[in-house]
Amino acid sequence: MRNIIVHKTIASIRDARSAALKLHQSVGFVPTMGALHAGHLSLVERARDENDLVVASIFVNPKQFGPNEDLAKYPRQLERDVELLESIGVHHVFAPPSINVMYGPNFCTQVNPTGFDETHEGQVRPGHFAGVATVVTKLFNIVQPTRAYFGQKDAVQCVLIRRIVQDLDIPVEIRVMDTVREPDGLAMSSRNAYLTPEERAAAPIIYKALCAAKHIYTSKPNCSTSEIQTIIQTILESNPLVSEIQYIAVDDHDTMKPLENVGPNGAIVSLACRIGNVRLIDNMILT
Ligand code: PAJ
Repeated sequence: MRNIIVHKTIASIRDARSAALKLHQSVGFVPTMGALHAGHLSLVERARDENDLVVASIFVNPKQFGPNEDLAKYPRQLERDVELLESIGVHHVFAPPSINVMYGPNFCTQVNPTGFDETHEGQVRPGHFAGVATVVTKLFNIVQPTRAYFGQKDAVQCVLIRRIVQDLDIPVEIRVMDTVREPDGLAMSSRNAYLTPEERAAAPIIYKALCAAKHIYTSKPNCSTSEIQTIIQTILESNPLVSEIQYIAVDDHDTMKPLENVGPNGAIVSLACRIGNVRLIDNMILT
């Protein structure tokens, strides 16, 4: 007998939520697209520690993928994911079995906070953040969590979620957790599975470059954006398996707006690059 309940419909997960409300239980919620790794599980563990009930969702949201992105080949492994979630104490999983459960035939509403297509990540992935904002708003309405947990790895996503919660008065507390890394520094990601062994061996160069940026900032706290960008670019370009650098950004941590110099409030350094054909993102907070 399983201790975890997998909900395939909105009505079913809503019933579970209503039952918890009657018992005054707090609900911690971790939205995911599945293919779970230790990064996701760190969010779940925190949710478990801070709430009576833990709900996770697994839904590969088509609205946040661009036409040339990897929606079709995004890894899907529901059985394994559910087992993992059960093993660390998740009570309910909302796993819509088809797109139709989330987006019915007449679906036409979009949550589209302004300014996010203009962030560095948004410029490379136009429409992505409206897709994220729309699905997360729906998930919040469906699950009605007390607290919801997100990873710092997706830095713009965290700013976006805080924005919609504040702007739309959604009664949920947002918790952001540190990026979980492999022992060699590579940020855990479902997309790491696409790397060839050679590319996987090269990929920690991203973390190495971010650490070099942090080192510059520590020794010179008012360093310029271009000093940070130059050191990161030099390190990334030293490895021929880094096939493309999409951006190296130095932004205000709270707004993701570009900074010319870092200064006393610190900054967030983020980058996107391709190792072979695999697009990876990572970031580091300078404080
Ligand atoms: P997904 O990429 O599956 O990530 C789910 C959550 O796990 C996100 O909050 C993400 O930031 C976090 N996460 C991923 N890698 C992490 C790592 N190495 N350390 C810590 N946290 C990590 O992000 C999404 O799904 C989607 O956009 C979603 C919010 C589910 C909306 O569809």
